[in-house]
Amino acid sequence: MKILVVGSGGREHALAWKLAQSERLQLVYVAPGNGGTAQDGRLVNLPITDPAALAQFAIDEHIALTVVGPEVPLAAGIVNLFRARGLKIFGPTKEAAQLESSKDFAKTFMQRHGIPTARSQTFSDSTEAHAFIEAQGAPIVIKADGLAAGKGVVVAMDIAEAHAAIDMMLSDNKLGDAGARVVIEEFLSGEEASFIVMVDGKHILALATSQDHKRLQDNDAGPNTGGMGAYSPAPIVTPELHARVMREIIVPTVQGMAKDGIPFTGFLYAGLMIDDHGGVKTLEFNCRMGDPETQPIMARLKTDLVGVMEHAVNGTLDAVELEWDRRTALGVVMAAAGYPDAPRKGDLISGIPAETPDCVTFHAGTALENGQLTVTGGRVLCVVGLGDSVKMAQRQAYLAIEQIHFDGAQFRRDIGWRALKRHG
Ligand code: AMP
Ligand code: GLY
Repeated sequence: MKILVVGSGGREHALAWKLAQSERLQLVYVAPGNGGTAQDGRLVNLPITDPAALAQFAIDEHIALTVVGPEVPLAAGIVNLFRARGLKIFGPTKEAAQLESSKDFAKTFMQRHGIPTARSQTFSDSTEAHAFIEAQGAPIVIKADGLAAGKGVVVAMDIAEAHAAIDMMLSDNKLGDAGARVVIEEFLSGEEASFIVMVDGKHILALATSQDHKRLQDNDAGPNTGGMGAYSPAPIVTPELHARVMREIIVPTVQGMAKDGIPFTGFLYAGLMIDDHGGVKTLEFNCRMGDPETQPIMARLKTDLVGVMEHAVNGTLDAVELEWDRRTALGVVMAAAGYPDAPRKGDLISGIPAETPDCVTFHAGTALENGQLTVTGGRVLCVVGLGDSVKMAQRQAYLAIEQIHFDGAQFRRDIGWRALKRHG
């Protein structure tokens, strides 16, 4: 059997790595892949990104099923296109992907179905938006309606910052169409967690819990990034909280989408804000897996992912029970010099240790040219350690990082601090 994974990041490397462990698999194609997927003998990079060309490839090569990593092809309708050509693909349709591709769609949907989230209002007129901010005060959160590659959310701690965000999005059009409408919402405080499930339109299969670190620097300082590290499980998500999130957020979302005539299929990722009293609200939906959350989650998955994917595309996820490594997996992202604003390309990478049962390195912004790995993008590697405790997993990851070198590498030294604090 052959499988196709669409994307080129650490998330896609981790998905392909896990799929390739299946004995039933002949080959995993990764389109376009990266330096890490190029090095793995069980994976084949495919230099195609156009969805129609990918569908043709899937037909010609008898690809059994396709898994899509990133949101951009999903929002562009790759699932609609594959299905129209009779191909099996795991991901949401363009319509269902609006849960991520339009913040206004997501907020209206949540309000309509009584799903807990921050109070908000949507604006396209800058005068009205400025007036609303004056009336509300700070802190306040401004979100571009459309996809903005992680640059669309401004958590404004004072009024001036909030007005500047409105100017940037609505008046100066710095984010293009994505910022032509903005959602202004109530500031929520608490601790964030990532809650990711697989959905086949009807049935829901929860993945292991995880937590991400969005800021560039230690102690959650510096600019927001795509994520500088993640671990699984997330101790803040107790069995009680898990049940509550399923009951109050995930089940109503899946049922609500079906009721609205746009059934959701694919990975559904709810970004949660958990307050001090265990109350929980939805910060955002993503219609895909998280990056870097996928890397520690895949490192812990014991069940054959190929079988799970087959159930997912056949609408029988209720038949699946997932088995997880009981250890903690903790991934530390190594990013390029200049990330996130202006990542430097071309630096040579050396010293990545071979995979062991306790440590695996997933690639993102890397390329393999004439046997040499080089930096090609912002987040370069995600080094995942596994251990019986958060501390031991952390130690494995940082031991490996000590051996890895590229000029200007940036990484946090405190990945997992919240989990460590919780365990005393
Ligand atoms: P989002 O893409 O909506 O998840 O926003 C990116 C980040 O901004 C989140 O991970 C939070 O750290 C922060 N954020 C988003 N919405 C809020 C909110 N209503 N209150 C506080 N922080 C928020
Ligand atoms: N790690 C956050 C995200 O994938 O959106």
